[in-house]
Amino acid sequence: MDRKTHWEDVYRTTAFDELGWHQAHPTMSLNLIESTGVQKTGNLIDVGGGDSALVDHLLDHGFEHVTVLDISSAALERAKDRLGDRAHLVTWIESDITEFRSSKTYEVWHDRAVFHFLTEAEDREKYRETMNKVVSAQGHVIIATFAYEAPPTCSGLPVVRYSPQFLALAIENDFDLVESFEELHHTPGGNKQPFIYCRFTRRKL
Ligand SMILES: C[S@@+](CC[C@H](N)C(=O)[O-])C[C@H]1O[C@@H](n2cnc3c(N)ncnc32)[C@H](O)[C@@H]1O
Repeated sequence: MDRKTHWEDVYRTTAFDELGWHQAHPTMSLNLIESTGVQKTGNLIDVGGGDSALVDHLLDHGFEHVTVLDISSAALERAKDRLGDRAHLVTWIESDITEFRSSKTYEVWHDRAVFHFLTEAEDREKYRETMNKVVSAQGHVIIATFAYEAPPTCSGLPVVRYSPQFLALAIENDFDLVESFEELHHTPGGNKQPFIYCRFTRRKL
């Protein structure tokens, strides 16, 4: 099964609050976004945002230019339905991140539990190339992945598990690691998943 089919199936068959990665309040992501100091008028992109509630909270906080990208149209439709009248305030992009191209730049690139699915070096290289092109000169990158102690699969797919240092190496030398945190995520099914969250800034030349 290709990855788009996998994710479309997931979002067509599993309710919002039954998804293993579901968070009613994405506190760590919101705190890290606040730490970037991005203006409310800045461009933010949630890469592989799915039907996450992060976008709801970003709108609540007054961010005016939020983009949610996901490989699954079903995920994006669910998020739009939930937001109702506010859905038009958001830019929705259905794309595989490894194929995404944009002339727009973003001050904040946020990815929770997406990069870790890229188990092929070629896909990670495409992700990095895109991130390098679209994150602005003063931009910030926030990536959350499974930690070393986490299970080897997520949503039934194999993942690469990272430490902050290993993740910094994986995104290579255009960004500096500013801070990192651990979070023990409790899935709705009662399992524990250790995550790392890392915030990077673009390296000054
Ligand atoms: C584990 S979920 C995390 C969703 C969301 N970031 C969150 O924290 O609630 C992974 C998400 O990444 C999306 N995804 C997986 N591979 C992708 C890819 N190559 N390009 C874009 N989105 C992808 C899936 O459709 C899914 O919504």
